[in-house]
Amino acid sequence: MSQQINEALGKLDLMITNAAAGAGAGAAAPAAQQQLSTAAGGAAARKGSIVQRLENAFQEGIDAAFPALAGQVGAIVQPCNNPKFGDYQCNNAMALHGRLKGQPDAPKNPRAVAEAILAALPETGMVAETSLAGPGFINIRIDSSWLAQHVTHMLRNGIATWAPLGYTGQKVVVDFSSPNVAKEMHVGHLRSTILGDVIARTLEFCGADVKRLNHIGDWGTQFGMLIQYMAEKREGGLNAATDEDVADLQVLYRAAKQRFDEEEDFKTRAREAVTELQSGRPEYLQAWQRICDASRREFQKIYDRLDVTLEERGESFYNPMLKPLVEDLMARGVAVESDGAKCVFVEGKDIPLIVQKSDGGFGYASTDMAAVKHRIDEEKADWIIYITDMGQSSHFDLVFAGAEKAGYLPKDRKVRIDHVGFGLVLGDDGKKFRSRSGDVVRLVELLDEAKRRIVDTVKERRPDATPEEVEEASRAMGYGAVKYADLKNHRTTNYRFSYDDMLSQQGNTAVYQLYAHARIASIVRKSGRDIAALCQTAEVKLVHEKEVALALTISQFSEAVESMLEELLPHRLTEYLYDLATVFNQFYTECQVVGSPEEDSRLLLCEATSLTMRACFQLLGIHVLYRI
Ligand code: ARG
Repeated sequence: MSQQINEALGKLDLMITNAAAGAGAGAAAPAAQQQLSTAAGGAAARKGSIVQRLENAFQEGIDAAFPALAGQVGAIVQPCNNPKFGDYQCNNAMALHGRLKGQPDAPKNPRAVAEAILAALPETGMVAETSLAGPGFINIRIDSSWLAQHVTHMLRNGIATWAPLGYTGQKVVVDFSSPNVAKEMHVGHLRSTILGDVIARTLEFCGADVKRLNHIGDWGTQFGMLIQYMAEKREGGLNAATDEDVADLQVLYRAAKQRFDEEEDFKTRAREAVTELQSGRPEYLQAWQRICDASRREFQKIYDRLDVTLEERGESFYNPMLKPLVEDLMARGVAVESDGAKCVFVEGKDIPLIVQKSDGGFGYASTDMAAVKHRIDEEKADWIIYITDMGQSSHFDLVFAGAEKAGYLPKDRKVRIDHVGFGLVLGDDGKKFRSRSGDVVRLVELLDEAKRRIVDTVKERRPDATPEEVEEASRAMGYGAVKYADLKNHRTTNYRFSYDDMLSQQGNTAVYQLYAHARIASIVRKSGRDIAALCQTAEVKLVHEKEVALALTISQFSEAVESMLEELLPHRLTEYLYDLATVFNQFYTECQVVGSPEEDSRLLLCEATSLTMRACFQLLGIHVLYRI
């Protein structure tokens, strides 16, 4: 067991523990704390999700039944199309039949293939029954005593034992948020921040070593314009500039831009200012720093509200690497001169990647080439993920292809590189998202408005809450609602931003989920039982069909996380959370918990549900509430 895994798992359980302890929720806290001490032991027993385990078993079955094809056919197991017939299904028989056709002793039809696989299936204890359907699908029903043990084990060892395998120790760079200095951070950056944080959190949960990089636009020609404007505004020039000049960067930007567009001479002076800045003249650098600091303070207000951490590594960081990079590319013939610019032509792309413009300047693409190289050579990244709107897809395609051509992507080890694109945020009217005055929406105001709008609901539902509790709940629900509304859509679709929808207490919203969690936590709390002790001594027993369904859904947490990471689709997590809450409600409607003969086991199911929900909230970056 590597120390890294232990640390990562320990960290996660600690986070979930802290959430529980912070709630002062009585019985709920010790259960989670207890898991902290055994997380490492539990980690040793990580075997992957149900799908993974079944795939392993079916792989063995397929290889044993058809040794001639061993190693050539991967087992395919997925949730059953029709839950009436099973929980999962294996779909290999049809294709296998095709491949075996014509060989001596080939099975006569796909059903015969399926039967042969079943006959060779190793004993796992997981499968209660199988049946054949259609041309050769194998339906699988999961054994309920296995499920009961699986959930009991998780309660004793912590939910980190359910983290999908395969990510531990991987070095992953997640490039997200990345607003531009001196320009307002817009809803696109908000989406990138929310999506990127969830991807980073989920990878961290799985034991990856994540570097969260904020590739802010802190370098470029716009600074010439801004600095020149500041220089001419006061008598003493740049030396007389103060923080007041950058207090409202939007105002500064607009004024400078107007002047830049209208006055030819100013344009020239602004260009000269860029050169001065690049040559490192102190008062220019200082003005630049002042602008960056002011922007940073603004960005931080958003990150604080959203509870997102990022390491700033802006474009300027790569500046010293650009000249040598272009020289290297030219020397090796990877880049060539075209119309005065230095370009990398990539097969199959209509436009080249411009690594140096004809005026000698470096642009967005030059920096991104340098960043890929740095992330691979210096950061030793195994995986690099970029999160921006889909409008930048072709830029990243070109950068990735260029980096491959340049040999920055190494041949000796596999580096995965992904652009995670997302759609637009639209206004309630389905048009471009704008504030009432028609301006760009200020994100701080947007977030605080969500929080403000939920205050009355919080007070109504809990008239006895202290002002601090109202504040905590409205923060969690308001900011959580904005995040959740963003995350629940397939990331590539455009979605409408609607306070009414996102703050609804019904349906697939953060508010609904937070209430659902608090209600389940309160069932456990109000039972008056010592749930921590119960987790250690009692066992889950599944008798009622709704109990079985709930235990299965709880166990599918691993699959949800797995599929979210495979395709980098955060809505897989919100979908799962919604399913879990729904299946819990069905259980709770039909199964009495407190005071029933099955009280112990059912309390454990409640605890397992709320614990799993907390893990989801943790991954989604939503603050958990216990009493609302
Ligand atoms: N600053 C850019 C923008 O606002 C996003 C940067 C994304 N990251 C990158 N490595 N290009 O569009």
